[in-house]
Amino acid sequence: MKKIIQILLIAFIGTSFNSCYYDALPEDENLPSDGEETELVSYQTDIVPLWVQCIGCHKQGGDLPNMEDNSYNNLLNGYVIPENADGSILYKSLIGDGVELMPPGSGWPTAKIDLVKDWINQGALNN
Ligand code: HEC
Repeated sequence: MKKIIQILLIAFIGTSFNSCYYDALPEDENLPSDGEETELVSYQTDIVPLWVQCIGCHKQGGDLPNMEDNSYNNLLNGYVIPENADGSILYKSLIGDGVELMPPGSGWPTAKIDLVKDWINQGALNN
């Protein structure tokens, strides 16, 4: 009888250790990795506010892509290739690669440009 209790006790302790170990695993996975993974960028929350510096020229009724109204559809109409920032005129305009640098003359800090790049490479979602 004593032996059985001992065995049960050992089994119980073993299980406890196991579950502790198991519980700890998912938390580790949520730790920030080496910066390769980026958070999902939201078009409405993260990107649209950036266009404030573009709509002075890129507005309704002009020849330039309209970034004031219906900007998502207008940009996806030839200026953005989902999952291909390097091939997108919008991204090229921000780094001045083959098209005129936007905003003209100044250009943006890398952090802003990278946000647009990530958004495009994440599929240019209307999220
Ligand atoms: C001062 C006015 C002005 C501002 C501000 C401006 N743009 Fe432009 N944008 C232009 C002009 C002018 C052109 C046309 C240039 C050309 O065809 O050579 C243009 C063209 C573009 C094009 C199309 C390039 C092509 O070859 O078809 C894109 C994309 C663009 N701008 C994005 C932006 C973005 C993004 C911003 C904000 C960061 C911005 N622009 C801010 C004046 C502006």
